[in-house]
Amino acid sequence: MDRMDVIANANSVNDSENSDSIEGFYAANAILVTGATGFVGKGILEKLMRVCPRIAAIFLLIRPKRSQTLEQRFKKLLDDPIYDYVKEKDPSILSKIHPVQGDVSLPDLGLSPKDRIMLTENVNIVFHVAATVRFNEPLNVAVNINTKGTARVIQLCKELKHAISVVYVSTAYSNAHLSEIEEKIYSTCLEPSAVIDICEGGNKMFIDQLNKRILKTYPNTYTFTKNLAEQIISSNSDSFPVAIVRPSIIGASHEEPCPGWLDNIYGVTAIFLQIGKGILKAVTANRDAKLDLVPIDYVVDTTICAAWHITLHRDNKPKVYNCTSNAPPITWGQLKQMYTECSRDIPMNDVISYPYCVIVSNKLIYSVLSIFLHVLPAFIVDIFLILRGKRPMMIKVNKHLNQLLAAFSYFNTHEWTFHRCNITEMTMKVKTLEDSDIVKLDMRDMNWKKYIANYQIGIKKFILKESSDSVKSVRHQSSLYVSKYLGAERDIDVIMVKYFGISG
Ligand SMILES: NC(=O)c1ccc[n+]([C@@H]2O[C@H](COP(=O)([O-])OP(=O)(O)OC[C@H]3O[C@@H](n4cnc5c(N)ncnc54)[C@H](OP(=O)(O)O)[C@@H]3O)[C@@H](O)[C@H]2O)c1
Repeated sequence: MDRMDVIANANSVNDSENSDSIEGFYAANAILVTGATGFVGKGILEKLMRVCPRIAAIFLLIRPKRSQTLEQRFKKLLDDPIYDYVKEKDPSILSKIHPVQGDVSLPDLGLSPKDRIMLTENVNIVFHVAATVRFNEPLNVAVNINTKGTARVIQLCKELKHAISVVYVSTAYSNAHLSEIEEKIYSTCLEPSAVIDICEGGNKMFIDQLNKRILKTYPNTYTFTKNLAEQIISSNSDSFPVAIVRPSIIGASHEEPCPGWLDNIYGVTAIFLQIGKGILKAVTANRDAKLDLVPIDYVVDTTICAAWHITLHRDNKPKVYNCTSNAPPITWGQLKQMYTECSRDIPMNDVISYPYCVIVSNKLIYSVLSIFLHVLPAFIVDIFLILRGKRPMMIKVNKHLNQLLAAFSYFNTHEWTFHRCNITEMTMKVKTLEDSDIVKLDMRDMNWKKYIANYQIGIKKFILKESSDSVKSVRHQSSLYVSKYLGAERDIDVIMVKYFGISG
């Protein structure tokens, strides 16, 4: 069926504004999602497909990758088992999902003129989720994708004939140098346009100097470029309602689409995985610092509700939602304790050694511990692998582990206070809707122990693709402290290739 036929009945802006349910708000509207192949984007797509059956169309801006065409990527996306339930419940929803070839790092989003016209004539609501989330991406790359890419998306939004609302997914750490973060947009010492000009100028020396200057204030290029993107949105938001949703650390799902669902291994998940495998034995962190972790389903629901909320409560400036935790507080020390217990109760297959991990705040002590707990064992395993005619890899794993810990160290040694007025107000308003029960915005009843157990099950199921039947036999192995080097080597191989782009 032609795309135009699918969305021929697109809603009028006023009908949506009068909507008194989330489902009604989305009914007959056409949505554009960027970043739909990523963790957050997949979650948004799944939820819209599941709870908004009357949606007119969902367009997904997807870039082709070297080895995969747009169509192959789209097929792979919808073949993901998280869509099985929705596809079974309402197979017709699939005919409403359309891939559009595009790349936010390219001029005009890399859209063909035909696709651009099709989007501008039909799309009403935009979720801009795409970003590079690598903390230490070279500045010019991060600026091009995160900052200029957002400017390109906003330009497209300005051209929409029937725009209803635009939601930008930012990060709660876009102002990580402050300890108290309000739901407002903060400026930087350099205007976004000045940073873009320097990066586009391509002078390596200027870019390096700028990079150095930025890193004196911001923990990394990622948070800085997300901040710039917020400012760009702020200065271009008079044509349509805009929401900026700022999640803190996003973790596995609490309940939806199923407990423990996750799709990438950044941040906390990467650390859990390494502890669970028995590789990571010591981290530098402030064990008493509170961490801010939000399950993906809260982020998805906040994003979906924000599009509705800003439309009904229109303002001529973006509304910022700090999508942070209001659950009972949890510290890094408590999290580590809960996770290590879980990783023994629900062990992964082929662990390198018995999972435990110590937290130290002193960097010198950490360095000494790291030699004994990480470097020497890695060395021994590699010798063992060489003797068996295998490829040594643990030293390499260790190097990347250090990079991971260094990138993350800012976040597990600092504490932030996030204002949550807008999100609280939105939660109250959502409660008055007919279908308020389809979303969950309040984390106060969070049971961290149960959540972390499901997180571990999710890592096994969705990242390591281990069957749940394996737990019993592996538990036996772990209790005997048996190391299964060959199996672990296979898993580490998969992880290294998939998430660090390293092979051979
Ligand atoms: N995960 C977190 O803990 C966290 C916390 C706070 C905020 N956020 C924000 O949430 C958003 C999504 O993050 P995520 O965790 O879902 O990351 P992710 O899994 O890495 O997904 C990133 C998405 O962006 C897309 N993308 C990257 N560069 C692109 C380009 N040049 N053109 C088009 N698409 C591009 C990726 O597409 P490909 O598949 O083609 O690479 C992917 O779909 C980001 O804006 C991030 O800043 C995430």
